[in-house]
Amino acid sequence: MEIQYLKTSIESLENDIQRNMKQIGYGIEAKVYSDGRYAYKICGYRSAYIGWLLFLKENGYENHPNVPKIEKIIVGKGGNRCVVMMELLKPINCDKLKKEYDTIEKTYDRYRAKPPKKVRKKLNEVILSIRNFSKQRKNGIILDMHLGNVMARGETLVITDPVI
Ligand SMILES: Nc1ncnc2c1ncn2[C@@H]1O[C@H](COP(=O)(O)OP(=O)(O)O)[C@@H](O)[C@H]1O
Ligand SMILES: [Mg+2]
Repeated sequence: MEIQYLKTSIESLENDIQRNMKQIGYGIEAKVYSDGRYAYKICGYRSAYIGWLLFLKENGYENHPNVPKIEKIIVGKGGNRCVVMMELLKPINCDKLKKEYDTIEKTYDRYRAKPPKKVRKKLNEVILSIRNFSKQRKNGIILDMHLGNVMARGETLVITDPVI
């Protein structure tokens, strides 16, 4: 994951993306576009989401199968907004992943009190990492787990946007 700091504001890159790419998603904080090969998420740079991506990198989860592969974060002048260039993922559309997601959501509901045992070990790591991340943030974070914030890479569940 490379971080690129622009000398210009993010607007011209944003205009380029909006002109040349297809919008594939949006949320409260972000708009997501694609050129058919990668996804480009335009969002605030000081958000909990970016904090989480940097936390993953710092803690060795960058290549974890259950988190998105981030190619680059392009930060506009002033550091308020950025574009996250990442792997293109698919919505969850099979029962296997829906079930897996259910387990995660249940785990989320109770993970504060007691770390989960039954969830696959690999997913556990990511959930626990979010737990550690939320402890580290002074102002706290809000967990935002719903089906719109998890996606699929083939048969693998990817947690894309778990915090606000
Ligand atoms: N890597 C990706 N590949 C394909 N679609 C994506 C990707 N990341 C996000 N999306 C789509 O964009 C939507 C909004 O992205 P999300 O990261 O949840 O932003 P927000 O912070 O605004 O909720 C998602 O629900 C999903 O449909
Ligand atoms: Mg979201």
